[in-house]
Amino acid sequence: MKMKNRIFKKRIKQVRQILAEKNFDAAILAVGANISYLSGFTGDDSWLVVTGRGLCLITDSRYTLQAKKQCPNCKIYERKVSMVQATASVLNKLAKIKTVCVEDKIEVRLFNSLRKKLIHPLKPVSNLVESLRQIKEQTEIAAISKAAKIAQAALAKTLRRVRLGITEQQLADILEFELKKFGAAPSFETIVAFGSNSAMPHYRPANRRLKKVDTILFDFGAKLNGYCCDLTRCFAVGRVNEFYGKVYRAVFAAQAAAIKAVKAGQSPKVVDAVAKKVIKFAKLPAFGHGTGHGLGLDVHELPTVSAVSKDLLQTGNVITLEPAVYIPNKFGIRIEDDVLITEKGCKVLTSSLKNDDVPLLEVK
Ligand code: GLY
Ligand code: MN
Repeated sequence: MKMKNRIFKKRIKQVRQILAEKNFDAAILAVGANISYLSGFTGDDSWLVVTGRGLCLITDSRYTLQAKKQCPNCKIYERKVSMVQATASVLNKLAKIKTVCVEDKIEVRLFNSLRKKLIHPLKPVSNLVESLRQIKEQTEIAAISKAAKIAQAALAKTLRRVRLGITEQQLADILEFELKKFGAAPSFETIVAFGSNSAMPHYRPANRRLKKVDTILFDFGAKLNGYCCDLTRCFAVGRVNEFYGKVYRAVFAAQAAAIKAVKAGQSPKVVDAVAKKVIKFAKLPAFGHGTGHGLGLDVHELPTVSAVSKDLLQTGNVITLEPAVYIPNKFGIRIEDDVLITEKGCKVLTSSLKNDDVPLLEVK
């Protein structure tokens, strides 16, 4: 607990430095993952007010006891009125406050209402905490790595349960149950897509049954102690169709090129272009989404790895690399691994695939 408190204090200090640079006397944080990152609080419906010296978690009676236990660094304010009203009354009492910012992810309705109730000028602020969260500390890297190990173990167990006629939804349920048996939770809604359904990148598993000769795409993640991993694996069932093999090898090569291209100081735009170039070189349609994204407390966070990314990669980023090819009405192939960016390159946290042979499943 003491070590955790030290980490929270260090993070709050960093936020205060940014606030000082931006000339804000106080910040209102409303994004759950950001609040949890700065205070350790894991409940919902609560806001955190950060001033030069103070730290106040505004919550309600459902969470008061939990907040007191989880956040020894914070003053706990149990609200009896609306969140906006309670936040305004906390801040309006502070004589030294002149300028206040609030995370720009709050609803417009709440922003407008806060603006009316606060006696101080209020400005929206972008990525105040997200910019810190994108550089992972050792404990966070360890948590993501552990989640990655669990995800792979859960998939290995699930593969043993693949049967002729099983539905996508049944297989997704098995995978999620295996994650839970390892003490984790799904980090997002598990995708299991058979055959042509896998050409839809964010497909929802349904009642399509597995055929003797088929393909399967799994895209899922484990969340452990608040930290997410994100993994995509593709399999041929029964036999490997020649075209499927060609596409698989191209996606594998695109990911290998992306893994080789990443390092601190590299532009994510270059990584995205490198992966897409490999796909185009194989005369296949390049995927429309970005090559990857940061992950941590959220499954999608900074930095993005796409054609419109702005900042350079930094040591301590944890990102996915997930190139793909989608052939409408036939199949989609995506290979996704999670990597830690280092000074010279990266460390793959999800032990990546050994070679570009299509993994083949025999089903009964
Ligand atoms: N793996 C799902 C996604 O990144 O959107
Ligand atoms: Mn992903």
